[in-house]
Amino acid sequence: MASTASRQRPEDAYTAAPFVPEGAGLAELREAAGGCRGCPLHEAATQTVFGTGSAHARVLLIGEQPGDQEDRQGRPFVGPAGRVLDRALAEAGIDPDDAYVTNAVKHFKYAHVPERGKRRIHKAPTLRETTACKPWLDAEVRLVDPDVLVALGATAGKALLGSSFRVTRQRGLLLPYEERGDCLVATIHPSAVLRAGDRDREAAYAGLVSDLAVAAEALR
Ligand code: URA
Repeated sequence: MASTASRQRPEDAYTAAPFVPEGAGLAELREAAGGCRGCPLHEAATQTVFGTGSAHARVLLIGEQPGDQEDRQGRPFVGPAGRVLDRALAEAGIDPDDAYVTNAVKHFKYAHVPERGKRRIHKAPTLRETTACKPWLDAEVRLVDPDVLVALGATAGKALLGSSFRVTRQRGLLLPYEERGDCLVATIHPSAVLRAGDRDREAAYAGLVSDLAVAAEALR
């Protein structure tokens, strides 16, 4: 019978940690992230999509992973979900110049589905991939040192608060972020607004704005 060690698969060791330079600033981190091979997601993605925004931002927003547009352009939230997010931030009273935006996972994960032709269809990252990428997120949070973190959706919530996080139960609350003593507000992912049916879209969007307003209030 194979020993435990010989049964270990290469992906058991997914981690970005060896690629994260110690003592680096944001610009150096961004450059290093471009060469991350901490998990296999870099193989099919166009590029690493690192966070953007002010290094002194008071609010740090965390999405799931880049989408098709973000993968092509190399910046987070530049596609349809980003347009929903920008509008909701403005309505909630959060100045985009006061925000740093990033993702829990820095590479686009997708699949091709025969009936959808050449389109690259988003695939949710696994917990192992999210955990592997966490050293980048930890470094961004450490350097930006925001007053409030905003988790956009379940993947970001689980990355920050652990796998028992549930967006339905914990959204819109001012939660302690135990690793740092900052506070965290979770909400739905902006793409959930886009996916909602016609009848539910307005309510989903209003919920997003109202959760973001909790973060805005905490900043005051
Ligand atoms: N969805 C995300 O979670 N992040 C992006 O950057 C774009 C879409």
